[in-house]
Amino acid sequence: MKQHYPFPLLPLPYAYDGLIPELSKEILFLHHDKHLKTYVDNLNKILAGYPKLQSLTLEELLMGLDTLPREIQIGIQNNGGGVYNHNLYFACMSPEKNQSPQGELLNAINRDIGSYEEFVKKFTDTALGQFGSGYAWLVSKNGKLQILNMPNQNTPISKSIKPILNLDVWEHAYYLQYQNRRNEYVENWFHLVNWNYVNQLYLESCRG
Ligand SMILES: [Fe+2]
Repeated sequence: MKQHYPFPLLPLPYAYDGLIPELSKEILFLHHDKHLKTYVDNLNKILAGYPKLQSLTLEELLMGLDTLPREIQIGIQNNGGGVYNHNLYFACMSPEKNQSPQGELLNAINRDIGSYEEFVKKFTDTALGQFGSGYAWLVSKNGKLQILNMPNQNTPISKSIKPILNLDVWEHAYYLQYQNRRNEYVENWFHLVNWNYVNQLYLESCRG
């Protein structure tokens, strides 16, 4: 995620039918090729008029929202956040299903959250408790884990907190397959979590 303007549409890290039956091909296609692409295009459109910002990475833009020209702060928050959050969301799922957290990450889950079972319960409650659109997040503050939710395309990066896992609960992420049953989508999503990748992000967060 060290790219800068013009930001690319990163390819989906697996086939469109790679997450069936938990997520249909149609959902993944629309979510990645339409929704994420729109965020990428809008972010690039905004930055086209600000050459001085074109060398900044997505993280730098989102961490420094307050320092950006006032007229583009909301646009960068929504569209830059949309790109960052979706790239993480897609990377945190895998066709290698039913993985579980291991090693130092598992130790941290046990230490900071109680147990993996407790993590599933709290993360589910957080995802279901997000009113309207947004995400549930697992974040690491210098190695200490915390679960939180944020609305819209807001991202913990803007508060200098390192996210290591997120779950998109915007209706576009599940409605085509699950209609209003967000709880079923969340329950099934746990089968898809790419804990190998989350573990890597956790270790990076501990190194600062
Ligand atoms: Fe989304």
